[in-house]
Amino acid sequence: MLDMAAEPAGRFIEASQIAKIYETGGGVVEALSSISFDCAQGDFLSLLGPSGCGKSTLLMIMAGLEPATDGRASVAGEVVMSPRADVGVVFQDPTLLPWRTTLENVLFPIEMMRLRRSLYRDRAVALLEEVGLGKFLTKRPHELSGGMRQRVAICRALVHEPKILLMDEPFSALDAITRDQMNALLLDLLIRHAKTVLFVTHSIREAVMLSDRILVMGGRPGRIVATEPVPFARPRAPELEDTAEFVALVARLRNAIEHSYGGHRAGGGA
Ligand SMILES: Nc1ncnc2c1ncn2[C@@H]1O[C@H](COP(=O)(O)OP(=O)(O)O)[C@@H](O)[C@H]1O
Ligand SMILES: [Mg+2]
Repeated sequence: MLDMAAEPAGRFIEASQIAKIYETGGGVVEALSSISFDCAQGDFLSLLGPSGCGKSTLLMIMAGLEPATDGRASVAGEVVMSPRADVGVVFQDPTLLPWRTTLENVLFPIEMMRLRRSLYRDRAVALLEEVGLGKFLTKRPHELSGGMRQRVAICRALVHEPKILLMDEPFSALDAITRDQMNALLLDLLIRHAKTVLFVTHSIREAVMLSDRILVMGGRPGRIVATEPVPFARPRAPELEDTAEFVALVARLRNAIEHSYGGHRAGGGA
């Protein structure tokens, strides 16, 4: 983790007064209101909040896939206007192309960006080996488990060597055991591939296990209701969850979420 005081590194990813209003046939939805935060290079920052609080909307704006109604998203000192080559994105649904093999799916963005496939093939294979899919290069998505498909999606997001990874509930559709394994795998991967990560989740535990800092989102329209640094050293082992410090931080975060809804239990469990 870099020193937050060191400028401009403290603002590698920056959201400044972002607001989002969706205008639909059925009316106007105010999804986000005055969202501001920044993230230093190399940090792992999570956006934590219950369903519907605008997490995906915010991530899409940071990714350049959705325009903000007001305010500004910037990455590496540049205003985000459209998807950027230095950003990789992973969604909840791995969205693999069913007729393509594992390896061909990972190489898909290379084709889209018109980069030389031959320069990236070895890297794609190495990434797949790293996540335990070395024996599945020629399989098609339907031959893989949910966890394997999401591992392919992570490799696809990393293949062009982006500096930044944006992840929108990438493990939420997986069973609890697979999800824990994927958390460990992601932490392990990030040791070898230093990235700045913006990670969306509705799981308090997951946010605490993975992050350097957590922004709690809540309310309608969505806004940031609390910020919590995560003080635990890395590498982090699963046993961390059993410590009093971990449990206390989880409780504090749950309280912040519930508080943002006037004391009602907001759903989206840990
Ligand atoms: N494309 C869209 N058109 C209209 N409303 C939308 C659209 N996407 C999201 N919303 C609304 O914006 C709010 C925030 O949604 P979303 O960003 O998906 O929240 P989250 O990811 O936290 O569940 C919700 O009320 C949702 O219904
Ligand atoms: Mg979402």
